[in-house]
Amino acid sequence: MNNIVVKIEKSGNRFNAFDSDGNKHTSDISTSTRKKAYLSGMALEKREGKGGRTYWWKVPMSEFETSSIPEVDITSIDVPTDHTEVLNFIHDSYKLKPKGLVMKELKWKYLIRSAVRGKNILMTGPAGCGKTMAAKSLVNSLDRPDFYFNLGATQDPRSTLIGNTHFNKEEGTYFSESLFVKAIQTPNAVILLDELSRAHPDAWNILMTVLDSGQRYLRLDEADGAETVNVAEGVTFVATANIGNEYTSTRVMDKALMDRFIIVEMDVLNDEEEHGLLQYMFPHVDGELLKAVAEISHLTRTESKSDAGKISNGISTRTSVELSGLLFDGFSLNEAAEVTIYPQYSDDGGVDSERTFIKQLVQKYVSDGSSDDLFNEEEIESNNVGA
Ligand SMILES: Nc1ncnc2c1ncn2[C@@H]1O[C@H](COP(=O)(O)OP(=O)(O)OP(=O)(O)O)[C@@H](O)[C@H]1O
Ligand SMILES: [Mg+2]
Repeated sequence: MNNIVVKIEKSGNRFNAFDSDGNKHTSDISTSTRKKAYLSGMALEKREGKGGRTYWWKVPMSEFETSSIPEVDITSIDVPTDHTEVLNFIHDSYKLKPKGLVMKELKWKYLIRSAVRGKNILMTGPAGCGKTMAAKSLVNSLDRPDFYFNLGATQDPRSTLIGNTHFNKEEGTYFSESLFVKAIQTPNAVILLDELSRAHPDAWNILMTVLDSGQRYLRLDEADGAETVNVAEGVTFVATANIGNEYTSTRVMDKALMDRFIIVEMDVLNDEEEHGLLQYMFPHVDGELLKAVAEISHLTRTESKSDAGKISNGISTRTSVELSGLLFDGFSLNEAAEVTIYPQYSDDGGVDSERTFIKQLVQKYVSDGSSDDLFNEEEIESNNVGA
């Protein structure tokens, strides 16, 4: 095991310590040690001294760089079959997770394990929390043929999943099968069924037999005795669903269909994780500003979950990433919030509206963005109560 090596980053008047995975270690290291390392352009390595006491030792910055996880050549990864190999593959798989995807190690390993074991996987969670991103990352991590279907966008499930009947003078009526028919006949394919929860109920019906481990076939026609196509050996389905969230267009998925999947619930990021992600994505944007974005998002999420909450939805990670992209492009926090956040909140009810609440929350961070005290959580929380 490599020792932890951190790099110090200055944001505002703080010196924060991050390891190469973006984990924060600031509170483990004294301010003066962090400051000294920063000023001398050195990294800090966590070491253990006599009696198990840990201390942080200045090391050249190159140590920080070399301690980062090497990029893995995905094309060279094969899905193993022998049990020991399977175990190693699963428990070693966290390094296959792209750094830009924030997902806990256990969840990621569970995802990989389910795919390796040929389970049907359903990724659930609210809008914009990384379901599609995680599903795509999984597919990229496995060296297997992959196919993508966005079921939320299809109006005609029959033609997407089965195919179309055509007619021309020479051949009369003929059937052209869909890409999906080809996909399920491809051994070891990983088939992504994105936005399954938004799919037309016809799509769910068609998929019932396909996903059932006892059946695994697709019927090309409703008629009894119609031709069927079997799902090939080793095919894995990975679906995504917005379950239990605000979207009315999300149809409630059938229990029988849900039962055909193992569920991997995507966690919504907390403020620290979100800040880490934003800093990783936008290293050139002021850290305090990104911290404000992460805190605003986080506060909206807790507020929307509380019983007496003034708003019905929290800001998604997708939105906070978009907002930070605007900051990177030179928009102020105020401007970026105006175009990305406010339109998501209704202004019905004037001063008591959700939009008023959100605006007041954002303004807390806009007014004096330079002050450290700004990020005093108690102050914000108590303000919310009174808002
Ligand atoms: N856990 C996360 N780690 C990294 N980035 C994330 C994460 N969650 C969301 N994002 C950011 O938000 C964007 C949207 O994520 P994604 O499309 O995966 O969401 P989703 O859960 O599939 O949303 P929807 O329910 O609307 O389909 C991503 O492109 C990424 O920039
Ligand atoms: Mg999605």
